[in-house]
Parts: sequence; structure tokens; C-alpha cells
Amino acid sequence: MLPSDKDEPLSSEAVKHRPTDYDINPLILNRWSPRAFADRAVAERDLHAILEAARWAPSSSNLQPWRFIVAASEEQKARFHSFINDGNLIWCKHAPVLLLVVSKTTNNKGGMNRSHAFDAGAAWGYLALEACRRGMIAHAMGGFNADQAQHELSIPNQYAALAVVAVGYQGDPAMLQGQLREREHPSSRMPLNDIIIEGSFA
Ligand SMILES: Cc1cc2nc3c(=O)[nH]c(=O)nc-3n(C[C@H](O)[C@H](O)[C@H](O)COP(=O)(O)O)c2cc1C
Repeated sequence: MLPSDKDEPLSSEAVKHRPTDYDINPLILNRWSPRAFADRAVAERDLHAILEAARWAPSSSNLQPWRFIVAASEEQKARFHSFINDGNLIWCKHAPVLLLVVSKTTNNKGGMNRSHAFDAGAAWGYLALEACRRGMIAHAMGGFNADQAQHELSIPNQYAALAVVAVGYQGDPAMLQGQLREREHPSSRMPLNDIIIEGSFA
């Protein structure tokens, strides 16, 4: 049993930055995407536990299109670094583990699976919440060269490279420079009314 298994309290940062109109699971508000990573390894059982959470995401026809390419050794991470944008590399090079979320774009009949990205997105969301529950952090990145990743990691054509995820433990924001350091806190969201469309856009 994890310490957070009793009612997880809302973090002080979430209280400050994330007011809600309704009472929701505090885990959802406590999760955010820090860029400062501590110099602390991730145990294989914790890594596999967050991947297990992703495993249980729902998907269209239960096709489970998500796959997670894991880079935990220095050699594997160096390969990932070669296709990650400089603006992300500057902070994510300190992450002990990098994942590439790829998704199978085809269904079992060889046609397109229109839901693959939607489903892989749900799986990433589950992974991020379980990471937060375990006191870990998971930061997704779209800033990478997907074509280069496809080539570098020998990803078959029917899989789309969707996002890199940096996984580890939160570090000292002082390790970040300038704007990145200033932004190192949970972000807010649009008002609820702005995302609810009653009936239709018309
Ligand atoms: C698909 C996806 C791509 C993202 N790409 C980047 C990125 O390239 N670099 C980055 O620093 N953050 C990236 N982020 C993190 C978002 O900026 C962040 O999730 C968003 O601002 C909300 O903040 P929060 O996760 O702290 O709640 C990405 C997030 C997602 C889900």
C-alpha cells in the first residue's frame, strides 16, 4: 500500500494554482508537468507499475493500440536525445527514463483505426496519474522529430510516434534557467464554461 492510498490531500501548489468549480479527485489536480528532474533513478517496479496503469486504459474495440518504447540505459537515452528538440533536451536530458509513446494506426483487418491517438492519449493520462500517485513525475513532449525517431528506433510504418515522456522524480527548480524556472509550477485551465458546448456549435 502506498502512502497516498488514503485520501490523497490536495498539494499546496494545487490549492494555489488550481481552483475548481466542483470537487474532483485531488490526484487530477496534483499532477502537473515539472521540468526539473532530481538525480534519482526509477526502480523497474515503479516504471512497470505506471505502464501497468496505461495498460488498463479503455480503447476502441479494446484494440489497445499504445506501445511504450523505454529508454533507461545511457545508450538508449542518447539515442532518444538525438531526435528531441533542443528546447526540450535542455531539461529532459536529466530525466532518468524517457518513453516514446507510439500507437498502432491500423486495426486487425488492416484498415485505419481512427481512434488510435485518442486511445493512446488516454493511456498516457493513466500513466501520468499513476506516476503522480507514486510521487513520481511524467512530462509529455511533442517537441521531437517523429520521422527521425521512426528511423532511429526502427518503428514499423503502421505505428505513429506520438509523444516522448520524461519520467522521474521532481528536482530543485534552481537547476532550471530563466523562463523555465519561472514557469515551474502547476498551470491553470480555461474556465469550464469555455469547454462545454451546449448542443452544437451553431
Ligand atoms: C501531447 C503533449 C505534448 C507536449 N509537448 C511539450 C513539449 O514539447 N515541451 C514541453 O515542455 N511540454 C510539453 N507538454 C506539456 C504541456 O505543456 C503541459 O501538459 C500543459 O501546459 C499543461 O500543464 P500541466 O501538464 O503541468 O498540467 C506537452 C503535453 C502534451 C500532453
